[in-house]
Amino acid sequence: MNKKIIIANWKMNPATGKEAEKLFKDINKSVSLLKLKNTEVVICPPVIYLENFKKISLGRSRTGEAKKIMLGAQNIFPGDVGAYTGEVSVKMLQSLGVKYVILGHSERRAMGESNVVINKKIKAVLSLGLTPVLCIGENERDENHEYFNIVNTQIAECLSGISKNSLARVIIAYEPVWSISTTLNHKDATPVDSKEMVIFIRKIISNIYSPQIAKEVKVIYGGSVNEKNVSEFLINGGVSGALVGGASLNQKKFGDIIKICETLNN
Ligand code: PGA
Repeated sequence: MNKKIIIANWKMNPATGKEAEKLFKDINKSVSLLKLKNTEVVICPPVIYLENFKKISLGRSRTGEAKKIMLGAQNIFPGDVGAYTGEVSVKMLQSLGVKYVILGHSERRAMGESNVVINKKIKAVLSLGLTPVLCIGENERDENHEYFNIVNTQIAECLSGISKNSLARVIIAYEPVWSISTTLNHKDATPVDSKEMVIFIRKIISNIYSPQIAKEVKVIYGGSVNEKNVSEFLINGGVSGALVGGASLNQKKFGDIIKICETLNN
């Protein structure tokens, strides 16, 4: 069976290394107790916390417990070394145990990141065998359904030149910006909104690649996912997992989300 995936996007939180370590250890503990078989859990913290988390994860596996939480990053720079002030390469992140990289998040797009740049980043991540989590999604739902064109362009440009084989390793995260918890006047998306867009995404992939690949590509949902609505998205939203922001900073809520996912997928 295809595993579901729950990805935590901690964004620029929590404020201190101490708080981050506590949260990571607490989540690690609840994940260990759940003995997951059907759910993959990824935590994408600020890059500064990764080294410590890698040590914590290795420490656990030395005591015989299987490593349960995978590490992810929230961005990379598509180059190896050089005069790129403030940037971090895929290789550097890989050395810290990172396996997944969120790319094209709407908060980065709002800072000016274009589809062309995201495309380069996806290729850099794939070239070292890591998994890109490509975020796409419209800012608003307009009456003329322009948002379908926006998503179409995002997919076509971000995946340009990526082979069929490589696409199998890409996760697409549909995150309508209007539903993200920190968006001003945000609105909750429904599983129907998600399902409709997932069908559209698969249609685009089918046109670019093939119907078979479209069927297989992993699509997840993000935007105010919490312990109360996650089951609805997983059952009726047409997705194989969730990208969780705010609720992933609360051990209890995030633990419940993982537990619900695991139970549904049993
Ligand atoms: P949210 O964030 O779950 O707090 O809405 C999701 C995201 O921005 O990735």
